[in-house]
Amino acid sequence: MKIGILTSGGDCAGLNAVMHGFVKAITAIDPKVEIYGIFDGYDGLINRKYRAIEPQEFSNILKMGGTILGTSRQPYKKLIQIEDNNKAAQMKDNYRKMDLDALIILGGQGTHKTAAFLSNEGLNVVALPKTIDNDIWGTDFTFGFHSAVNIATECIDRIQTTAASHGRAMIVEIMGNKVGWLTLYAGIASGSDIIIIPEIPYDIDKIIKAVEAAEKKNGFCIIAAAEGAMDKEEALFSKKERIQKRAERGEITASNRIAKAIAEKLNVETRVVVPGHIQRGGSPTPYDRVICTQMGAYAAKLVGERRFGQTVALDGGKITSNNLAEVAGKTKFVLPKHELVRAAKEIGISFGE
Ligand code: F6P
Repeated sequence: MKIGILTSGGDCAGLNAVMHGFVKAITAIDPKVEIYGIFDGYDGLINRKYRAIEPQEFSNILKMGGTILGTSRQPYKKLIQIEDNNKAAQMKDNYRKMDLDALIILGGQGTHKTAAFLSNEGLNVVALPKTIDNDIWGTDFTFGFHSAVNIATECIDRIQTTAASHGRAMIVEIMGNKVGWLTLYAGIASGSDIIIIPEIPYDIDKIIKAVEAAEKKNGFCIIAAAEGAMDKEEALFSKKERIQKRAERGEITASNRIAKAIAEKLNVETRVVVPGHIQRGGSPTPYDRVICTQMGAYAAKLVGERRFGQTVALDGGKITSNNLAEVAGKTKFVLPKHELVRAAKEIGISFGE
């Protein structure tokens, strides 16, 4: 067998761990397997950036952050949807020229859409769900998510000591533009007073009240705010309009606006901390290493059984797979009635509604 592997979209911890698991398992299925590493995501498939990689080279990468194959963002719209664009044709053509039996694609939402397209066009695709956002439909968790939760939680924990020492309100802006899973998990795990996520638009007056209560009770306040947090008014606009309105105010995210309102209304010293890409960096947690290994091995099993057009998933603790065509393009949002949101509210965490 000849198998191509690529990693696409934003990196996260666990990409190498999945490839480590996949290559070991596929080598056991077919000891003569030839593995081709395709570099920098779909860009490598378009521009023929690949080379044969000995299975041995995938050893010792279980714990390594990032991706040894490199990655790039190739938005589905630019890759596939634009007419007059031969990138889709180039990918199909190169797959055939490489004479691949299967293409293994590790990536998030956008990557899955392109993977579903390629599968529909007859390529033998198996995808794996990567992202710190945990927003891929049909899987309980994406790999990379738990590692990011660990980092985000540690960031908030460390901020808490400064907040307590200075009596400040500290806003920690957590990654997640469209969905708030990472903020929700890290917010609960760190004992934050307020959690603000895109799925639950906030009312600044409610946030102020919650800050006032936390300052009164604890002498400081911790707010975990997703980078995609928006107020109730902004929620009425489209993403494009929202970005435009924020640009007019010199804003990218809502965090500084929230901080300013708190400082003005309550006369409380307020700071914003943005851990940013730190949340995507470094070694995967043991939990991620385990599910990455399981997912990689499952992808090899799918290839061995020639079950293509699938994306690997975790369902109630069991590794399984879903039809790419069914899950690609669907976003797994935090439902405002989700049990975790309910539990957080039950212990007194405010969502600023
Ligand atoms: O998709 C993962 C993610 O980290 C999001 O949470 C974040 O909004 C985005 O990527 C940042 O992208 P980039 O690394 O391209 O700035």
